[in-house]
Amino acid sequence: GLYAAPDRLILAGQLLDVRTGELHSQQAILIKQQRIQRITSISELADNERPADVLDLTGYTVLPGLIDMHVHLTSNPQKHGYRRLNDTPTRQALFGVTAAQATLDAGFTTVRNVGASGFADVDLRDAIDEGDIVGPRMRVAGHSICITGGHCDNNLLPHTYKANSFGVANSPDEVRARVRENMKYGANVIKFTATGGVLSRNTDVNASQFSLAEMQSLVAEAHDRGARVAAHAHGLHGMKRAIEAGVDSIEHASFLNDDVLALAAEKGTYLVMDIYVSDYILGEGEAAGILPESLEKERHVGQLQRENFRRAVVAGVNMAFGTDAGVYTHGQNGRQLAYMVEWGMTSLQAIQSATVHAADLLHWYSDEGKQNVGVLEPGAFADLIAVQGNPLQDIRLLESIPVVVKGGQRVK
Ligand code: ARG
Repeated sequence: GLYAAPDRLILAGQLLDVRTGELHSQQAILIKQQRIQRITSISELADNERPADVLDLTGYTVLPGLIDMHVHLTSNPQKHGYRRLNDTPTRQALFGVTAAQATLDAGFTTVRNVGASGFADVDLRDAIDEGDIVGPRMRVAGHSICITGGHCDNNLLPHTYKANSFGVANSPDEVRARVRENMKYGANVIKFTATGGVLSRNTDVNASQFSLAEMQSLVAEAHDRGARVAAHAHGLHGMKRAIEAGVDSIEHASFLNDDVLALAAEKGTYLVMDIYVSDYILGEGEAAGILPESLEKERHVGQLQRENFRRAVVAGVNMAFGTDAGVYTHGQNGRQLAYMVEWGMTSLQAIQSATVHAADLLHWYSDEGKQNVGVLEPGAFADLIAVQGNPLQDIRLLESIPVVVKGGQRVK
């Protein structure tokens, strides 16, 4: 033939095209060096395209491996609040080994890790890429960037302990420096906090953090360096300011309104709304050490965020799947899909948010300019999952996925 024979072949009973929602039956996925070489119907396979290594998934529906755009693999959901103070970045990385395995087993073959201390996320990503441990492909942020006393700072101890987080910055020049440090030590994406948060002590979810000038400086530096920018924001004004400054995604977006939706639509900004995690925080959070003030904040955020998720779906703005796993149990990422359907998406839209749309926000391309993940197309990594039945009819099939393939290799 005109091209090298494939290394392996995967046969799919049904193949879901996540761009269109069409199901194609009896498809053959030809794989060469971890990437998809070609997809054709089984009946059209040439003799020299039948390698010895065949994975028969003709009893399954196959779709791209899922992507979670908001995780913290190095965070232990059993250790919130003051319990977290005892863990070094090394200890967190060791925890991340099990979290990575659980996440991949759940069918998430790619994650965007949006904040970790001590570059534990960089090490975790590299240990996975170098084959030391098993886990999803990771795009990582390094340290989250925030103001003194902001959502990413350590606000648990009095001043005598001098406990500051590495991501703290307080001027346009300082944010630029933090971006440069993150990039120097291996970040792929930049995360900053534009408002207070639920789980940080003594921050107000409605209060903006960083001036417009600081945000613009951060975005300019990140974009110059080829990194995309994710802004944590619950409150309205911080959210608007971050979109104006040109961020690529707003994380949480809890208190959005029509102005925010119009601005996001105009700028193409993605919203990444973690609408499952509230159940964990209000259910198991207290036992896991979440502070009473955080539980109180969550009572004001969770329900409104879900209602605003519905508004965002109706408005038709860009939305990508992100759960904040790490705040809650790793490997339960897929549970949010059914919530997204309950709150206004079709099953296809929910699947798209965790595949093709997440990949668009991730903006991660091969040397040949092909999308690396989120689609099953020539040039992409052969990362896929298989379920028995049709996930367009039953989204909850994606809560426990029997077959996971990463780079053409079956990992579950
Ligand atoms: N990391 C986020 C914060 O502390 C979690 C918010 C979770 N709540 C929610 N309803 N999404 O702000």
